[in-house]
Amino acid sequence: MSKILQPLETEVFPSVRNRTVMSAMTRGFADADHNATPAIVEYYRRRAAGNVGLILTEGVVIHPSADGYNSVPHIATEAQAESWRPVVEAVHEAGAKIACQLWHCGRISHADYTGGQPPVSSTDRAAEGINRQNDKPYGTPHRLTVDEMPVVYDYFVEAAQRALAVGFDAVQLHLGHGYLADQFLDARVNDREDAYGGSVENRCRFALETVERVLAAVPAERVIARISPSRFMGGLYDWPDMDEMLDYLIPRLWSLGLRVLDVSCANADYFQTSGRVIRKIRPMWPGVIMGGASLTQEQAEAELEAGLLDLVTWGRSFIANPDLADRIASGADWVPFDNAMRDTLV
Ligand SMILES: Cc1cc2nc3c(=O)[nH]c(=O)nc-3n(C[C@H](O)[C@H](O)[C@H](O)COP(=O)(O)O)c2cc1C
Repeated sequence: MSKILQPLETEVFPSVRNRTVMSAMTRGFADADHNATPAIVEYYRRRAAGNVGLILTEGVVIHPSADGYNSVPHIATEAQAESWRPVVEAVHEAGAKIACQLWHCGRISHADYTGGQPPVSSTDRAAEGINRQNDKPYGTPHRLTVDEMPVVYDYFVEAAQRALAVGFDAVQLHLGHGYLADQFLDARVNDREDAYGGSVENRCRFALETVERVLAAVPAERVIARISPSRFMGGLYDWPDMDEMLDYLIPRLWSLGLRVLDVSCANADYFQTSGRVIRKIRPMWPGVIMGGASLTQEQAEAELEAGLLDLVTWGRSFIANPDLADRIASGADWVPFDNAMRDTLV
């Protein structure tokens, strides 16, 4: 049998019925109180019914100060967490697993989204460019002080606890794509001169402390961390000192007890970006690695067979094909993704 269709059974993560993963994708269809809606339940139910192994939800904002997008869900209150319970139940009923992606945008935001307060970041320099969410320049961030960081860690911890309490199989800490943790990891953004900036060790500190605090509060087999050392988001690039960063960061994530990594490259060619990162870190990571980006079935199979990936993520193909895993099993053609598909939640 094709490796993609084989279950993943491991002590370090909930069992998954096959190796297909729906990647985290923001859709912007939450209600005015940032809750999941019945339409969101149906959207995820359809992917689970199509036989996907694991669903990573769209980014779910951990606190009002962490937002940066229009109409995205939050998990800052019990009520917001409860709005996800029917999603989780529908997905479980159809035999799939589901993890909640926990999101802090940092400076990829504007006071319009953070209750009038400036967004927070590693730096006080605004991101370049215009925020397409409100057609304004990105907000000038408040540089987090060392005293303020534990408050942010607590937002992650409490959001993780709320997610697991409503039945999510796992949480995914979003440490990539230029959002808050990546604003510390990335030397192009992080201009600090304290213990959280400068050296590789210092730039990794915020992400490592976030992971450490979450792992102290919830079981390690319920935690995934998404990193994107090489990616396309407003430009194709690697962390400037990527090899040195990975040599430091990856073994430390392991020693903290993390066992599941999602190596993402956002909107990039996998082999130019994540594929390279995964070839570097696989020898350092005996745990689970998921990754992908528009891989063909043959490419996915080859990455799994080579032991580089344990699970394969697809994003846009899951928007276009709710039944992607069934199509993989039957050999049916895949519907190509079209940008117009972003406009509706089907
Ligand atoms: C509409 C859309 C929304 C996305 N939102 C998120 C998100 O909320 N969190 C995240 O980590 N990645 C997000 N991504 C990136 C995807 O998870 C994935 O890494 C990327 O689409 C590459 O995979 P693909 O080529 O298979 O689509 C988004 C991508 C798309 C297309």
